Amino acid sequence: MDFDGWLLKRLDAVKRDGLYRTLRTQETALKTKGQKRQTWASNDYLGLSKDERLITAAQTALSRFGAGSGGSRLTTGNTVWHEKLEQTIADFKQTEAALLFSSGYLANIGVLASLPQKGDVILSDQLNHASIVDGCRLSKAETIVYRHIDMADLEKKLASVQARNRRFIVTDGVFSMDGTIAPLDRIMALAKQYQAFVIADDAHATGVLGENGGGTSDYFGVCPDVVIGTLSKAVGTEGGFAAGSNIFIDFLLNQARTFIFQTALPPSICAASHTAFDIISDMHDTRRELQTSVKTIKTRLADMGFTVRGGDTPIIPVIIGDAKTAVSAAALLEKKGICAPAIRPPAVPEGESRIRLTVTADRSLQDIDELTEAFDSIRKELNINK
Ligand SMILES: Cc1ncc(COP(=O)(O)O)c(C=O)c1O
Repeated sequence: MDFDGWLLKRLDAVKRDGLYRTLRTQETALKTKGQKRQTWASNDYLGLSKDERLITAAQTALSRFGAGSGGSRLTTGNTVWHEKLEQTIADFKQTEAALLFSSGYLANIGVLASLPQKGDVILSDQLNHASIVDGCRLSKAETIVYRHIDMADLEKKLASVQARNRRFIVTDGVFSMDGTIAPLDRIMALAKQYQAFVIADDAHATGVLGENGGGTSDYFGVCPDVVIGTLSKAVGTEGGFAAGSNIFIDFLLNQARTFIFQTALPPSICAASHTAFDIISDMHDTRRELQTSVKTIKTRLADMGFTVRGGDTPIIPVIIGDAKTAVSAAALLEKKGICAPAIRPPAVPEGESRIRLTVTADRSLQDIDELTEAFDSIRKELNINK
């Protein structure tokens, strides 16, 4: 069989399982292929990606520093904007220091592949993000998966690995496909009891959870050893970071391959992100409004009979079941002007395919009415949750 024939056969299998994916083209923020739609899938929770203050900050840095950074941080790519942003992130996360990566994905891989060593154990939540899973795969430590936010299971597994050199617990702060919140206070208590280090990935919590939007650690008032984050969600830009002690950051700068061997983020992105962090702490009203919208949507969908999961976060998984029905549900919603993706295995377990809604701060009550009316009608069309 020739190269393309072999790949077509593999793609056919993907199609048969209802797991085939295609790209969606956005012409503007709200239009998809010329038609006006409501997008309920963005991670731009606070609407900062289109904020004029961020755009101006990026433009100013763009004209001073150019379009790209031209090198890795350790060679020629380091600018005052990278360092300013790292200090701002450290202050925001209440850590001594922070280090930028080109994405949250690369931050997780960089930390997990370098920090735990052979002879150590990583205890990883069953629903952790793919970048954590991939980081664990690259680590020389053994990875043991514990049941999703199941503290009894975590404790049992921690107790069973006391003889190992070191123990690391790694968890999403807010789980990207389920919208659940990791009980970081209880995880920290277990870590203390069983002498483990805690790594929390706050990708979906930064800017959203906690009084000042500081994330899961702010929400629970705890300080994990390592906080990972992304700038690509509520911060509204691009990039990732790790935050922790000065010594930890120095270690990463010397040992994390995804930091050392990657071209630095463009300075314009750093300048825009710096402005975003200046704004985020004061967005108390926006965070409250977001919570109100989330509660309204969840209550309405649950009243219709949908299985709705998640905690007090803007991620609302509406469980549909098998992958093909979830894809049909997304297609029907799209016909009604609602863009909300079907999430299928391997992103979620078999039989738990879902429509994953994310709520952003710019949603009006009318938008919410249109969304819930569309769900009511697809419920009838697909004969689900009668
Ligand atoms: C929990 C979690 N961690 C890490 C990432 C990766 O972040 P980034 O998009 O910056 O690579 C994501 C984003 O998809 C995520 O949801």
